[in-house]
Amino acid sequence: MSAGSDPGLRILAIETSCDETAAAIVEAGNVVRSSVVASQADRHARFGGVVPEIASRAHLELIGPVVTDALVEAGCALGDVDAVAAVHGPGLAGALLVGVSAGKALALVTGRPYVGVHHHEAHLYAAFLEDPALEPPVVTLVASGGHTLLVAMEDHGRYRVLGQTVDDAAGEAFDKVARLLGLEYPGGPAIDRLAAHAASAGIEPVDFPRPMLTEGLDFSFAGLKTAVAVYLRRTPGADPAAVAAGFQAASVDVLVTKLLRASEETGIGTVVIGGGVAANSALRARVREAATASGRAAVLPALALCTDNAAMVGAAAWWRLRADGPTPLDDGVWPNLRLPEATG
Ligand code: KG4
Ligand code: ZN
Repeated sequence: MSAGSDPGLRILAIETSCDETAAAIVEAGNVVRSSVVASQADRHARFGGVVPEIASRAHLELIGPVVTDALVEAGCALGDVDAVAAVHGPGLAGALLVGVSAGKALALVTGRPYVGVHHHEAHLYAAFLEDPALEPPVVTLVASGGHTLLVAMEDHGRYRVLGQTVDDAAGEAFDKVARLLGLEYPGGPAIDRLAAHAASAGIEPVDFPRPMLTEGLDFSFAGLKTAVAVYLRRTPGADPAAVAAGFQAASVDVLVTKLLRASEETGIGTVVIGGGVAANSALRARVREAATASGRAAVLPALALCTDNAAMVGAAAWWRLRADGPTPLDDGVWPNLRLPEATG
């Protein structure tokens, strides 16, 4: 029996594509024995965004301790691991290299297979950790700092990209608007909190445009960010809470409308979200309400499974290993890797 066909397989998974150094032990594709995430957010905060060189150096410093912690928390030794997986793209080249090199080295010393994992495929699999009974087909919205994708997952490993952003990613827009408002990095959680404050204080959100709301399944967030910048320039003394709430409402409106449209157009009745923006409280509430109102099933991964983590990498790796077998050790990193799409 090949290692990839053992359903109880224990995978050591690694994620270093951006500014989180993460490792996890996942068994049988959906049993998370440990999941350790070391955030570098405080190292990048004063620059208002991720600095690639700082990210690579921090990953180098953190990868050893994070992998050790994941093994200790799972109560297993390196020799108990059946395969080693690492995100090999997309992401920052130098950051990816740290996780991939560590993953390959650990695979080599243990004599276990190495599996290179697509970062967005991993985000798609967060929902399968949240609900182990979940079965494809599902329609997924993956919204993160680097990407905004609507994907029909017809089966495991079988994807059709239905829509994506034509300019900025949703998370990028949250981060840029937060910066305009003088909020800390990362901006998504800061805007989420400020918008919640606006709601509880009865502050009326500013009415911002909903770009491409009525057209197709692609997204555009650059215009919305510009609309916020123009509003702030023209409105001295603007209330940041009203702006944050208005920006969040417009973003969430577009994301949820398109997710439901994708479900309607494909006839797939289960909707799923993933990626850092899926941690947004307003987005989660809207997806829940919309699914209930329209008789759809919705799976919302726990917040720690939405933002970058390695548990989701272990889940995706389990299916990849079954489908494709090990990744050759001469495979590199793929900073611009696209999600492999189904043909035919
Ligand atoms: O998936 P992720 O952790 O890393 C990437 O793959 O990019 O996503 C990070 C993004 C950041 O832009 C961050 O501001 C955003 O997700 N984010 C949020 C929230 N939490 C994180 N955006 C909106 N609301 C949140 N609560
Ligand atoms: Zn991500």
